[in-house]
Amino acid sequence: SWTMLNIVEDSVEAVRRQVGDGRAICALSGGVDSAVAAAIVQRAIGDRLTCVFVDHGLLRKGEAEQVERDFVAVTGVKLRVVDAADRFLKALEGVTDPEEKRKIIGREFIRVFEDEQRAIMADGPVDFLVQGTLYPDVVESGGGTGTANIKSHHNVGGLPEDLQFKLVEPLRALFKDEVRRAGEELGLPAAMVWRQPFPGPGLGIRIVGEVTRDRLSILREADAIAREELSRAGLDRQIWQCPVVLLADVRSVGVQGDGRTYGHPVVLRPVTSEDAMTADWSRVPYDVLSRISTRITNEVREINRVVLDVTSKPPGTIEWE
Ligand code: XMP
Repeated sequence: SWTMLNIVEDSVEAVRRQVGDGRAICALSGGVDSAVAAAIVQRAIGDRLTCVFVDHGLLRKGEAEQVERDFVAVTGVKLRVVDAADRFLKALEGVTDPEEKRKIIGREFIRVFEDEQRAIMADGPVDFLVQGTLYPDVVESGGGTGTANIKSHHNVGGLPEDLQFKLVEPLRALFKDEVRRAGEELGLPAAMVWRQPFPGPGLGIRIVGEVTRDRLSILREADAIAREELSRAGLDRQIWQCPVVLLADVRSVGVQGDGRTYGHPVVLRPVTSEDAMTADWSRVPYDVLSRISTRITNEVREINRVVLDVTSKPPGTIEWE
């Protein structure tokens, strides 16, 4: 729309004024906020922006490719990709406590990013750090009681306040729906623009138990099936998000053909919500649930049971960890 076009152009202009002929860096997470912020800054200053994508190995199926291939193709951003999956998995070895997982993932992310930062600064000084801060984030951190967060949010892509950088925050005046419209205006991949909320620690907090490479690939397959069927049913924009959770330390007996199986359950957690502070379990039609269940148990060998979470928030949180 005309107004959205104006908002994008105005913010490109504002970034150009702020950054002048300086250089900037930006961490991409795979989410819409950092992607739109980076695309705007790229329009403003071109190759003087370097984006960094730390692939922690905890993203869902296809998401890393979306950043590395589709996003770059559309925007032309200069991107450094770090395949850090081994490093993150090593650091997560033996860890089952959710907050411990978050701490480790957040810490490793900062370390990897700082290494990249140093490498980029070897080509010359960088004064600016791009962040996808939205208006509601600004309001929330601007004093008042805010909202009681019971989980620490070590957002991948959200870096600690780093005084050596000036922040560039092109989305500071925007709400989420406006960011999505800006993303469309900028021609970003639809899967990115319409991606539902996904936690920074990714699948790391959707495996109840230790995070391993095998478990990740099991969960990735199950999650991809659930997402595919939900969007095929046209539900992906009604549902706030639908975590798929692997109960990796739970096994149950099943039967397939003549054989007995002893596999793992996954939990479907579709919720409706306005702002994630409260949520209700979403009444996904039975036939859609049935297709998801049939496909997951047929296509993912290690999973022999699919269960539905019918808990509202409160008392349940959206994620299981
Ligand atoms: P809960 O599970 O607390 O989640 O009801 C509320 C919203 O926050 C997301 N979430 C996170 N996002 N880092 C994030 O960036 C995190 O550690 C994290 N934990 C939960 C969750 O997906 C939901 O949208």
